[in-house]
Amino acid sequence: MKIAIVGAGSGYMPGIVRGLLHRADDLAGAELACYDTDTAHLEVMARLARNMFAARGAAFTVSSHTALKAALDGASYVFTTFRPGGLAARHLDESIPLRHGVVGQETAGPGGFLMALRSVPVLLDIAAEADAGAWIVNYTNPTSVVTDAVARHTGARIIGLCDQAIGDTEMWAGLLGLPSEGLEADWIGLNHATWAQRLRLDGRELDVPLLLEDLEVPGGGATPWRDPSRMAELAKTLGFLPNSYSKYYFFHDEVVAELRAKDTTRAQDILVMLPGYYEQVTAEAGKADPDPSRERGGGEHGEFAVDVICALHRDEGRRMIVNTRNNGAIASLDADAIVEVPSLVGRSGPVPLTMGPLPGPVRGLTQAIHGYERLASEAAVTGDRRTALQALMAHPFVRSKHTAEKILDEGLAAHRDHLPQF
Ligand code: G6P
Repeated sequence: MKIAIVGAGSGYMPGIVRGLLHRADDLAGAELACYDTDTAHLEVMARLARNMFAARGAAFTVSSHTALKAALDGASYVFTTFRPGGLAARHLDESIPLRHGVVGQETAGPGGFLMALRSVPVLLDIAAEADAGAWIVNYTNPTSVVTDAVARHTGARIIGLCDQAIGDTEMWAGLLGLPSEGLEADWIGLNHATWAQRLRLDGRELDVPLLLEDLEVPGGGATPWRDPSRMAELAKTLGFLPNSYSKYYFFHDEVVAELRAKDTTRAQDILVMLPGYYEQVTAEAGKADPDPSRERGGGEHGEFAVDVICALHRDEGRRMIVNTRNNGAIASLDADAIVEVPSLVGRSGPVPLTMGPLPGPVRGLTQAIHGYERLASEAAVTGDRRTALQALMAHPFVRSKHTAEKILDEGLAAHRDHLPQF
């Protein structure tokens, strides 16, 4: 069995290798075909993988490729984790909208829209080149828009991933004073716009409204991914658990002020930290028993992706929260919408579980986000400027024709080298 990794030079690769080691017995004998356009980082990560596998006696073979076709040929699973234009492009995604008073946000925001315009053409090429019947296991952001474009415009099979639900469930365990082991939340909605009304501990249903009544709103503690204080404040009003990204919808203007007060974008902060990170990983890659940094993409992100591949490959029927076609799982969204929902993942793909309607207080918002995502996917495939403008006008952060025009014109100009469809 062959697994192709597209974007294998990424800083997330050490986490993927750790995930593969975790399931080495279940995937024994697999060939990992590593592909990247960044040959220097590709070679470092391939060497790291070989040495980590050898040190632990894991039966994987590793090949590295700079030609996409050779990497994809014969692969049953194509794992995609790349960012066209790299972090320099992410900086533009984050800063162009902010100039116009809108949070850029590289996945959920108009920044994510600009990234979709760059990611989708590459994913369409991958879908065209991959073997018939191969599964594209996609981490490339924005995962819902990318998954929608591939699912509707190609014959390829795709499953969209995000580990946010895992990290958010852990955050809520901490906030609610519950153990994270054995805690399961029914997150439903769209990627980075999910909501959980039901929580179980070791299979026992918990009384969420009661837990939220007793919840005390903590001060501070915000990281780039999570803001426990704002999440607790929101949950007490909504009456259920919100995804961490909901802060951009419900505290939009405060976040704009915070981002403006900061001198750098998140992309710039990562760019400062990356050389040291790659230096450490490069040094470890040459060792007999490497222990690469966990600073970026260390654990859960990689483990989740490998667990999804195992669930597909071994027909596990495992319950996992993934992005897939709705098919009635969420009553308030189109049947062919790409939703993030608990699903049973086995050989024939994810089977979304019936979850009922979205909670009333966020139903309209989630439907609006879906409307935007559909238009974004269409624009990213067709390169139609009018559809792109409609997408930005429909985006809940934007809601202004002139602002949408400015973000679109500046975004298309800034990213023109990565937008063959426009
Ligand atoms: C979370 C999200 C991902 C996103 C990442 C960004 O894990 O679920 O979709 O790409 O954060 O993290 P970064 O460290 O790059 O800001």
